[in-house]
Amino acid sequence: MAPLWRALEQYRDRVAARPIAALFDADPARAEAFSVSAAGLMLDYSKTGVCAQGMAHLLALADGAGVEARRDAMFRGAAINETEGRAVLHTALRDPDGPPLVVDGVDVRPGIAGTLARMEAMAADVRAGRVRGAGGAITDVVNIGIGGSDLGPAMAVQALAPYHDGPRCHFVSNVDGAHVHDVLAGLDPARTLVIVASKTFTTLETMTNAATARDWMARAVADPGAQFVALSSAGDRAAAFGIPPDRVFGFEDWVGGRYSVWGPIGLSLMLAIGPERFRDFLAGAAAMDAHFRSAPLASSMPVLLALVGVWHAQVCGHATRAVIPYDQRLARLPAYLQQLEMESNGKRVGMDGRDLDRPSGPIVWGEPGTNGQHAFMQLIHQGTRVVPVEFLLAARGHEADLAHHHRLLVANCLAQAEALMRGRTLEAARAGLSAAALGGAELERQARHRVFPGNRPSTVLLYSRLTPRMLGAVLALYEHRVFVEGVILGINPFDQWGVELGKELAVSLTPLLEGTAEGGAHDASTLRLVAMVRADGVA
Ligand code: F6P
Repeated sequence: MAPLWRALEQYRDRVAARPIAALFDADPARAEAFSVSAAGLMLDYSKTGVCAQGMAHLLALADGAGVEARRDAMFRGAAINETEGRAVLHTALRDPDGPPLVVDGVDVRPGIAGTLARMEAMAADVRAGRVRGAGGAITDVVNIGIGGSDLGPAMAVQALAPYHDGPRCHFVSNVDGAHVHDVLAGLDPARTLVIVASKTFTTLETMTNAATARDWMARAVADPGAQFVALSSAGDRAAAFGIPPDRVFGFEDWVGGRYSVWGPIGLSLMLAIGPERFRDFLAGAAAMDAHFRSAPLASSMPVLLALVGVWHAQVCGHATRAVIPYDQRLARLPAYLQQLEMESNGKRVGMDGRDLDRPSGPIVWGEPGTNGQHAFMQLIHQGTRVVPVEFLLAARGHEADLAHHHRLLVANCLAQAEALMRGRTLEAARAGLSAAALGGAELERQARHRVFPGNRPSTVLLYSRLTPRMLGAVLALYEHRVFVEGVILGINPFDQWGVELGKELAVSLTPLLEGTAEGGAHDASTLRLVAMVRADGVA
């Protein structure tokens, strides 16, 4: 791999002074040539600094890293999560009727189809009022989970609001009592269904919130367990919590937390939008899977998106990437992607146990546009750091009577991408000011503030409308992009050892805060903070 990286770095140095806009002058077909369509999505990556030669270098990297072989190994159920000795088969959840898929000697398809059918029966019963609370039909569902057991369904439920025709769905994740308090405060326990979503059924935050919700329910309802559901791989622990087996929806260890929205963890989404639309959501993801499995590297959307990311993060050294959906209902997408991307590829050691010799996956952040334009876009346009941007945009909104809003939304998105690339020269800034009757030294001083360096890269992911199917395709695209990036960097994207140390220390600090233990192997700053908290404030 080293010679391939070196060739790419030499290419980077050769083209360093070349503006992105010049690439369009040189190639009238660039917009089409640097775009790819799949599963109803269109990715335009033409407003980035790579030309055909750069793409050839990047594709050589993907090829050299063995992306295709690794991809095939993932889909056939090989144990590619090597640090945990597990297969990685969240893709099988969105293809329940596919051909036999044998993992450890067992065909996993019947289990997947069976669990999906049970979820559908449960969702249909709740939605039709056949599964009821002590006070009548279920009006509200509370999903208690964190990380992958929260972010996927919470993001998707918000994204697909126009399709909601089931009970209202709420999400509690933070161990901060304010979260569970505020969510439960508005609800009737006799008509609420609580979903405890935890793959391990041991996560501190989730177990604490679940116990609080059970106490809340028990104060109003004779049989609180009847209004609880568990989504977990640990059926025994769910049973010990008091949830009967027919209310436990399990999944295997080859579904990672941040890849789990496609199975039982998606139950709240299925309750909100109904089983049929949930199947559409799965079908959108399956369409992206089919594309990823069959398209050559050079026309594979996940591969190209990953390569553009590698170009920006590992080759050009841009530490962060902004994800800016011009789609208000995707407000939680950046948070979802933070877990998907940063928990997957935020690692400094490769699969071979050696330190990486280049940066890990980038810092991902963002907020919906147009709001970001009035907050952080100033820095992206004129700050000293380059922040590559990924825009997401629907050609059409759901609010037919508000089409003029949508036109303004689209215009703003496209304007941002254009402005980032084009910039504004000093001459243009001067001309604008002199037209406004400014002159002399003041014009010169003011003009410099109005210069935009331009040449700032962005991509646009365009889809017709944010339907369940489109959302499924978008999420599967990002999953595969993370996978490809992981293969190229030599990282295992499917473990998350980096979350463990903080959890251990929190466990050892709790008795100190309770006053049942003193000292311990903590630093002086931590112990002083503990003492101040115990003294109820700042001395
Ligand atoms: O943050 C670590 C993590 O293990 C995530 O990977 C996972 O999504 C989350 O905690 C929740 O875990 P569980 O579903 O087991 O409660």
